[in-house]
Amino acid sequence: RSAAQVLVASNRGPVSYTRADDGTLTARRGGGGLVSGLSAIGPDAGAVWVCAALSDGDRAAVAATDGGRLDPADSGGQRVHMLGIDPQVYAGAYNGVANSVLWFIHHLLYQTPLEPSFDQDFRTQWSAYREYNGAFADALAEEAGQGAAVLVQDYHLSLTPRMLRERRPDLRIGHFSHTPWAPPDYFRLLPDDVAEQVLLGVLGADRAAFLTRRWARAFTECAAQLLGAETGERDGEPTVTHQGRTTRIGVHGLGADGDFLRERGHRADVADRMAALRERIGPDRKVIVRVDRTELSKNIVRGLWSYERLLETHPEWVGRVTHVAFAYPSRYDLAVYREYTDTVREVAEGINERFGTPDWLPVLLHVEDDFARSLAAYRIADVALVNPIRDGMNLVAKEVPVLSDRGCALVLSREAGAFEELGGDSIVVNPYDIEATADALHRALSMPDDERAERTGRLAAAATALPPATWFTDQLRALGG
Ligand code: G6P
Repeated sequence: RSAAQVLVASNRGPVSYTRADDGTLTARRGGGGLVSGLSAIGPDAGAVWVCAALSDGDRAAVAATDGGRLDPADSGGQRVHMLGIDPQVYAGAYNGVANSVLWFIHHLLYQTPLEPSFDQDFRTQWSAYREYNGAFADALAEEAGQGAAVLVQDYHLSLTPRMLRERRPDLRIGHFSHTPWAPPDYFRLLPDDVAEQVLLGVLGADRAAFLTRRWARAFTECAAQLLGAETGERDGEPTVTHQGRTTRIGVHGLGADGDFLRERGHRADVADRMAALRERIGPDRKVIVRVDRTELSKNIVRGLWSYERLLETHPEWVGRVTHVAFAYPSRYDLAVYREYTDTVREVAEGINERFGTPDWLPVLLHVEDDFARSLAAYRIADVALVNPIRDGMNLVAKEVPVLSDRGCALVLSREAGAFEELGGDSIVVNPYDIEATADALHRALSMPDDERAERTGRLAAAATALPPATWFTDQLRALGG
């Protein structure tokens, strides 16, 4: 096996395995914005993708290999090195630090006064997080050829760039954040040493990149205020200099993969689901679509409340619109995600009980994964509701305009990264404001056909301006070498 010249590291890899009762393993494509973006690296590049075993199925697959090097046939030819991390260490790193702390910090999800509280349990999880980041640094150091480029992804791996540099100073290291970055006053909710290690970890990269200028700026402000780092500029890019090392700060606004979507979105399985949805909804009703992971930051409950408020304040829409809400299971190991999913269900049922009639279901909620059905919903949408509390980018906002058959009005949170590129042709909302969101839904439903079509055309062009393959090669190029 040859040493790699390009390496990618992320928690979730391009493939995951489920184990049936009889022990057989089935490979499936991994999900989420990060995996969609990175799939563009393609097998031809000879790149190695280092990721973690997420489940028992994954750990069984790893155990059946030579040191975690999976059969490329399971991942469309991609070379994948999956790390079989001890389940307890993994849980502390992923459920504990990454998803219950860093994700909450970057998405401003904590509800003070009681949350967060950093106790002994957190310290145990923090050690696990360091061990997990170290395991990635070890694997990358082992796989990388001399002077190779390594692209480390996301908040799960914020310590890895620095750890890797200590092991292999010859490498060119990039870090990319797929989330927002918290502003300094919020970031300093973290224990001081943790905040410092996270910043120093990312600054271990030659270049730290973000989805928008806003998140990049928040990072440099954190480095300046919490570490006393110096900020500057080189070749038009911001820089952060600390302890004699300079890290460049980049912005790459990952776009939708227009070619892939148009091809995948017009296959027979999508057409079947469109027909089924249409039958369920009724031929003449307008459709408001949302598609998310069942994720606290996606703001699904306030979205439903806003829809309910629309029906109250604009009775002319009663019986004439259906809200199609797909909320795919996510992070169910965490009680707060399970509770949130229950609330989503209850609120949707409440609206259906209050307004529904024998031939009209106001909310069509589905809480299980079906990619083809999501694409079908994109195609029939009159309105897309994308109202996150905060979101690194939000690819749904970029995918709907590409696939929409008749043009789709976009109601978009100003706190989504996509707002930087799509704000001009969207109906923009403050995600906390139920009244304003209800009003935005009304305006979106009432938008004249020609205006909606024109806006959708411009949104689709903006959304596909930086397809994943270009997003990826731009980052490699920026690392030089
Ligand atoms: C976000 C994160 C990704 C993550 C994805 C899905 O997009 O930035 O790193 O993979 O959510 O979340 P999960 O916890 O299921 O990997």
